[in-house]
Amino acid sequence: MTFSEKVSKTGIIPVVVLNKVEDAVPLADALLKGGIDFMEITFRTECAADCISEISRKVPEMNVGAGTVLNVSQARLAVERGAGFIVSPGLDEETVRWAIENDIPVIPGAVTPTEIMKAVGLGLKVVKFFPADVYGGIKAIKALSAPFGQVRFLPTGGVSEANLKEFMENKSVAAVGGSWVCKKDDIAAHDWDKITKLSADAVKIIKEIRS
Ligand code: 3PG
Repeated sequence: MTFSEKVSKTGIIPVVVLNKVEDAVPLADALLKGGIDFMEITFRTECAADCISEISRKVPEMNVGAGTVLNVSQARLAVERGAGFIVSPGLDEETVRWAIENDIPVIPGAVTPTEIMKAVGLGLKVVKFFPADVYGGIKAIKALSAPFGQVRFLPTGGVSEANLKEFMENKSVAAVGGSWVCKKDDIAAHDWDKITKLSADAVKIIKEIRS
């Protein structure tokens, strides 16, 4: 299975902000228990690289990637520490080229036709649509899929259980991204059961739509 087939199969990439390395493995386990085998650890906290390395070593079933990657040096660090894919809020050409050259799946943000054309020109087929709610949500994705029928989107930002269905029903949506299954407060409270429950609820909706 290719990376994008795997992502599509799972249908969701939780966006994770971790402040403590010791929360990384329990969180990965909680997501897996709920049926989610992808997670994006954002480079917004100092411990992001350490969290990636913990998960890649100790939870091999989890496809762990790095998010909020802004440049090549962060991408390189993330991959050295075990990240299997790179997600960026926008499109940095140098980072995309580096990832492609190193055979690392990369999903940059692209929301305008010009940005999407740039991503396609670099050889990509999946882009992050971020912040999805601000840039027109599913309505915008539908409009963009007319000229960009081959492109698939990862809407992220403002996606939740409330609108998950409308995104997943669209064939141009490869998967959704979001933090609602692993909120900062739930991680801080070590409420792993809640995270598992929210993950399982999301997976149920995704499976119903996909079947
Ligand atoms: C982010 O980068 O913070 C993601 O887009 C998550 O957005 P969300 O918190 O609205 O899910």
